[in-house]
Amino acid sequence: MTKVNRQWLLAKHPEKQLTEDCFEYKEENLPETDLAPGEILTQNLAFLCAPTMRNWMDRPNNSLYPSIPLGQPVMTLSVARIVASKAPEYIVGDRISTRATWQDYEVISTSSVPISKIPKDISAIHALGRYGLNSLTGYFGLMKVGKPETGNTVVVSAAAGSTGSIAAQVARLHGCKVIGIAGGSKKCSWLKESCGLDGVIDYKSQNVEKELGMLCPKGIDVFFDNVGGEILQAAVENMASHGRIILCGQIASYDNDQPAEGPKNMMRMIYGSITMQGFLTRNYTDEFPAAIEYLKSKDEKGEIVFREDVREGFKNIPSIYKSLFSGSNEGALIAQIDPSAHNI
Ligand SMILES: NC(=O)c1ccc[n+]([C@@H]2O[C@H](COP(=O)([O-])OP(=O)(O)OC[C@H]3O[C@@H](n4cnc5c(N)ncnc54)[C@H](OP(=O)(O)O)[C@@H]3O)[C@@H](O)[C@H]2O)c1
Repeated sequence: MTKVNRQWLLAKHPEKQLTEDCFEYKEENLPETDLAPGEILTQNLAFLCAPTMRNWMDRPNNSLYPSIPLGQPVMTLSVARIVASKAPEYIVGDRISTRATWQDYEVISTSSVPISKIPKDISAIHALGRYGLNSLTGYFGLMKVGKPETGNTVVVSAAAGSTGSIAAQVARLHGCKVIGIAGGSKKCSWLKESCGLDGVIDYKSQNVEKELGMLCPKGIDVFFDNVGGEILQAAVENMASHGRIILCGQIASYDNDQPAEGPKNMMRMIYGSITMQGFLTRNYTDEFPAAIEYLKSKDEKGEIVFREDVREGFKNIPSIYKSLFSGSNEGALIAQIDPSAHNI
């Protein structure tokens, strides 16, 4: 039977803020293709809305991946089911996490795209959400780059988000005092009441630099930064001697077509012997299984709370994606396009 393939193409590069006319919807019959050796045909089930994809939509710049070509489906991270295979290690019915594009079906060369099989006891949604890239980012960024010690003061920006909420809770489990910065009283209450943080700052209504001074009287030992810009600057002004700044992301500058600015007053870094280090989660691929086991055990014991913000509908993908920049997402933002994604 002929399969219909729905697609969202990048129609134009965003001018400053992302608008929905940057995308074009297309539908066509999936052409019959003979797979080459090593290729698989996948059916996407759900996509992770990752803030950094916004950088891939820009004109060619200094992004990690080449800019998405105009007229091509938007590159993303997905969970998918294999529907045909010419790669012996992948069989029809296997569920995988992979780099994909905003369309129902695609042919993937297994030797050129990172693919990991989803364990049988994890649903596709959980593989993108609670045990997915962002949770691993929170875990590895904090543990490997921040190297928290019991009793340290840890501050996390975008703390109510998918990455930030895990970094903050892993810090709490390591006996740290944890302060979260987030936008709005609802997210701040969730951080205190459900995630057990010691303090919160609503950056939309409070002076972050002043509040950090009051909540961290001995200074910040570890700052996990998802945001950059003014929030990074406020933390720099409050770092403790020998403090560590974890550069995880710079979301404040993604949706404005400008390069992310560094902090001012670099002498603060010198006088404070402060370290600032960026990282990519994929640096720790070999350690993913152990980290997932850790997150699963904390999940089962109820020691970490996760939020998966699953929204449905292929047609809605662009508007779902934009929620990241208005902050209306509550946790890992997932666009589900096939109802079976929730099933084991
Ligand atoms: N280094 C890596 O390997 C790696 C891997 C994955 C993710 N990341 C980074 O991790 C960060 C978080 O990503 P995520 O997927 O977990 O997203 P998320 O935190 O779940 O969602 C994004 C949140 O960022 C906040 N935000 C958006 N625009 C902002 C602005 N202008 N100023 C301050 N806050 C803003 C909003 O929360 P509020 O409502 O609180 O404003 C929004 O809900 C991103 O910077 C991403 O690039 C890095």
